[in-house]
Amino acid sequence: MPMPEPLAIVRAVHFAACLAALGTAAFMLLVGRLDGLDRQFRRFAAAALAVALLSGVLWFALVAARILALPVSEALGDGGLISVVTDTRFGRIAIIRLALVVLAAAALALPRGRWPAVGATTALTGAIAWTGHAGAGTGLLGAVHLISDVAHLIAASLWLGGLPAFASLLVWSRGAPAPGDLAARVTRRFSLLAIGCVLALLTSGIINSAVLLGWPTDLLASAYGRVLVLKLALFAAMLGLAAFNRYRLTSRLPGRGALDALAGTTLVETVLGLGILVLVGILGTLAPASHLHKPTAAINPDAAFVHIHTEVVMADLTIDPGYAGTSAAIIRLWHEDYAPFAADRVQLALDPTFSGAAGIRHDARQLPDGTWVIENLRIQSPGVWTARVIIERKGTATVLDAPIVITQCSNECR
Ligand code: HEM
Repeated sequence: MPMPEPLAIVRAVHFAACLAALGTAAFMLLVGRLDGLDRQFRRFAAAALAVALLSGVLWFALVAARILALPVSEALGDGGLISVVTDTRFGRIAIIRLALVVLAAAALALPRGRWPAVGATTALTGAIAWTGHAGAGTGLLGAVHLISDVAHLIAASLWLGGLPAFASLLVWSRGAPAPGDLAARVTRRFSLLAIGCVLALLTSGIINSAVLLGWPTDLLASAYGRVLVLKLALFAAMLGLAAFNRYRLTSRLPGRGALDALAGTTLVETVLGLGILVLVGILGTLAPASHLHKPTAAINPDAAFVHIHTEVVMADLTIDPGYAGTSAAIIRLWHEDYAPFAADRVQLALDPTFSGAAGIRHDARQLPDGTWVIENLRIQSPGVWTARVIIERKGTATVLDAPIVITQCSNECR
């Protein structure tokens, strides 16, 4: 499994914070007003919102730095930041979600703010769908994927996001006047809610998988699929624990032993859920397996090909033939849904990852069909080269980079 890059970890922290804010706000409605506990829930939800805000800003900074091809520190001071906010879907959604964090925090501060808090945190968490793979879809399939992903995020929040509040209620109820009654009542309610969430997660998860996996075999054949399989394994473990809670522990409430055991297994469930969110953080940074099956044109078997995937633009780069010597480079640019990506200027830079060869950089020429080409590309030596596709659009440059292997031309190909 690929080592999580900083963006994956920041996404995971942000998901956990948003899920916890919505899960806790909804849990407050589920249990009704419990004076001793209400303030504790509000504080926890507010803390989750603060983490959502900080991790959201960091997430934005990391994406902006990638778009502007600058180190994070420079990107934050760069004039191009404005265009990232105004010209990209990611930027516009980020501003809306920032406002929702403020709204949710304000609602949590109001004595009668529980429903508005649930409303604002639902919008905040649901809007995550527009920042990921689901947000790039078009047409009917795109709409189904988007709705499914929103449902997925909300179901994950009401179950996984509600677990910390549920565990703290179980611990708190030990000191309550009729500890067992409250715990048993809330456990029955939460367990019913969780069953509904599991069904929603499974349904929406299968829809998401069907859209983002090309074939079922991709579950093992692609990095994206293997991360998803790990996620499903953790999900199965959570289901097992939830079933144990429901069928072995709930029936033994209000027994003190069952209460303590339930608090313990709920915390284990929460840790498994956090593991799932780390995997989801990684999934969002990988090219969906379905993309790897769709080279956008027939590829000459002698060519070198790489599909480069970012949140903003994707590129298919073909160097034909893929041998040292004289070749042509063909570059096709796409939005994530394979809608053509318009650019003002495209350059290709090839830098050797080995010594003894010089880097090259060329301007590409655009063909009437939108493809960008470079003829007579002289590649000195075989080896692994770092290809950088530099895309200029409305004064903002985006750089996509990936390794590409140039082989030695054998006798037959001379
Ligand atoms: C406790 C259980 C689960 C939790 C907490 C969870 C959480 C999440 C979250 C937070 C996202 C990110 C949404 C986004 O970026 O737009 C996501 C995406 C996804 N989930 Fe789940 N999920 C769970 C179960 C499942 C199950 C059971 C499946 C499959 C049957 C599944 C398949 C997916 C897929 C394919 C995506 C899309 C990832 C992408 O955008 O590349 N999930 N999940």
